[in-house]
Amino acid sequence: MEKFFSHASYSGRLSYSQGVEEIGFYGRGIAFNEDYKSWNYHRQFFTHALLAPRFMDTTINFTNKLCKEMSGYWKSLEKQKTLSNNYDNNNWTLETDFHAWFHGFANDLISIITTGERTYTIASYYNKSAIKSEHPDALVEDGCKSVNASVSLIKDILFFMFVGPFMRHYIPIIRNMSISMLKNRNYVFERFDEIIKNRRKKIEKMPLDKDMNNDMLTLLFTTNTTKSIAKIKALDGKLLKPMSDEKIRINLLEAVLGGTDTTSNLFCLITYYLCKYPHVKQKMLLEIDPIFPKSSEKFHVSRNDISKLKYCKAIIKETNRIIPVAIFTPRCTVEECEFAGYK
Ligand code: HEM
Repeated sequence: MEKFFSHASYSGRLSYSQGVEEIGFYGRGIAFNEDYKSWNYHRQFFTHALLAPRFMDTTINFTNKLCKEMSGYWKSLEKQKTLSNNYDNNNWTLETDFHAWFHGFANDLISIITTGERTYTIASYYNKSAIKSEHPDALVEDGCKSVNASVSLIKDILFFMFVGPFMRHYIPIIRNMSISMLKNRNYVFERFDEIIKNRRKKIEKMPLDKDMNNDMLTLLFTTNTTKSIAKIKALDGKLLKPMSDEKIRINLLEAVLGGTDTTSNLFCLITYYLCKYPHVKQKMLLEIDPIFPKSSEKFHVSRNDISKLKYCKAIIKETNRIIPVAIFTPRCTVEECEFAGYK
């Protein structure tokens, strides 16, 4: 196995797919890139941005904010239902589609931490009730349009991966579906390009001493430029070239596409298993309660708090072990290698 995963016989994620190339993802970024040098370049920038403590703090801050917003919507929905039955502010329950809420939550979170731009999926879900959220309708609609396009793109890539070129190009209904998927891809690319172009202009005008945003886009822009102390080097010790806008676009998209369904599905599965095994839930609460005492008004998770949640971490890992959300992790060798006597 060691040999199989060694850099010398580096194994790519997925083998060549004409469909993935046609939809514009093959040979770029991380997930669909078989070229080791190019993969390594993207992977270094991606990891550097994701593991930056500033980025983690941004993620935690927005998780806190969105949690507060979402629980506000839940409270309000329950209040709307039980107005006549004396709503109790400290003891309320709500029956709702947890997956829909959490999927929206993951979409909103991933968008703000990658691009710095908010979307309003949870607000739009709340807007289906009798009362509207405080966010202007136009913003909610626009944010939702972009989220829906990104969510479709995940399915569209899979469609292009598994449906052959003959069907996609010549079978009437499938051909039309493919054309509309490519249109959707163009819309997502254009939207990201617009965000990237505007941010580049903004960052270029900023004085060096000014604090910048800590989203992934800003971190990808500034790494290996005069605007950042952090420098990443190639294996030969040479400084890597700062990222072009096109490379930034693919890295951001991969974070959005790879980080939304995974996070929301895993969270829903964790919730399911906690309900199924109440003794585990009880043990989890015993770990959480001393960190967030019930008496405390303030509910704000910090990086330090998270590092104390060892049992919670074990629950996340065990759930993903029992039922992995990313069901396949393919490998394809890019040069001849021998494995257990087979070539
Ligand atoms: C619960 C959440 C997540 C799960 C279960 C998950 C699972 C996985 C798995 C199984 C792989 C394949 C690894 C391999 O082939 O060795 C992968 C790759 C990847 N994931 Fe995730 N992921 C999650 C969240 C995220 C998030 C939040 C992001 C981005 C911000 C992300 C971005 C990526 C990328 C870019 C790759 C390709 C890595 C590479 O080829 O080197 N994932 N993920």
